[in-house]
Amino acid sequence: MDLSDKSVAIVGSGRLGSALAILLARYKFREVRAYDRNLGKQQILREWPGVAITIPTSLQEAVLTADLVFLAVQDRYISELALELAAGLRGVDLRGRFFAHLSGSLTSAELQPLADAGALTCSLHPLQSLADIEGAVEGLAGSYFSFEGDPGALPVAEFIVSVLNGHLVQLKAEDKVLYHAAAVVSSNFFIVLEEMAISLMSGIGVDRDTARQMLLPLIRGSFENLERVDPVAALTGPIVRGDDHTVAAHLVALHDKCPDYLAAYRLLAGLNVALAGQKSGVDFNNFPSLNSSL
Ligand SMILES: NC(=O)c1ccc[n+]([C@@H]2O[C@H](COP(=O)([O-])OP(=O)(O)OC[C@H]3O[C@@H](n4cnc5c(N)ncnc54)[C@H](OP(=O)(O)O)[C@@H]3O)[C@@H](O)[C@H]2O)c1
Repeated sequence: MDLSDKSVAIVGSGRLGSALAILLARYKFREVRAYDRNLGKQQILREWPGVAITIPTSLQEAVLTADLVFLAVQDRYISELALELAAGLRGVDLRGRFFAHLSGSLTSAELQPLADAGALTCSLHPLQSLADIEGAVEGLAGSYFSFEGDPGALPVAEFIVSVLNGHLVQLKAEDKVLYHAAAVVSSNFFIVLEEMAISLMSGIGVDRDTARQMLLPLIRGSFENLERVDPVAALTGPIVRGDDHTVAAHLVALHDKCPDYLAAYRLLAGLNVALAGQKSGVDFNNFPSLNSSL
């Protein structure tokens, strides 16, 4: 598929919308437009080296003749923007025109007013954590994108993902919420866990920066194990070795010195026992400390 004669409009010049504009402008579509309701946000796109991005001054100007439209706004604004677009484009033939939003948890149903007008609609979500535009421009390559929506939109989505050097996975609408929960566990909860570890270190007098640096090689080791094998095989530590004495000592220390983390530790240790059982045959009978009254 070659879409180089097509024009692209991106509504919302935040972290993902701006990165998308920059990366798609590198492909040399006929035109890439980036619109944000806050025109001041466009300066970074005006000045980005090596790409030509059109900065329209109104939503209508951005989308009126665009073949591919991305709604890169916060999730809470997607459905009202879809309504606004459908109203603004009333009377325009939308058949064959592609509209995608980029949310992980919401489905293409958010774009129903556009689908009703004949457009091809989908959700196309990069499974990536994008803290700023520069990081997003680097980080999108190699990412997985989930596609859900009108099968007619799939070839265009596949093309866009290939331009971004990503991988596409198809999802059913009813599975998107759990898919997004998995993303939150993997990305946000991982950071929460590392904060817990840093805080425990800081409680014994290691300064937070040093604690973070100390933990990074450990994290990298686990990450590299996970790159090679699945979680059962990657698992190490006292629980997989069936060492209840160590777990009991952790529980006592947490109870005495960091009681806020006791419940989280016990919950995660339980999940750890269940996983370790698949590797070393341990079960809850090996860990009476987890049933203690602490
Ligand atoms: N960042 C990530 O890690 C990430 C990863 C995967 C997917 N996504 C998805 O990508 C989408 C955008 O996320 P983001 O993090 O890039 O958001 P963001 O940085 O907050 O940027 C959104 C931009 O859209 C603008 N906007 C909102 N409503 C608008 C409207 N009606 N017309 C024009 N501009 C409008 C916002 O302006 P105001 O500031 O004035 O509201 C803001 O500049 C979301 O659906 C999100 O779930 C994000």
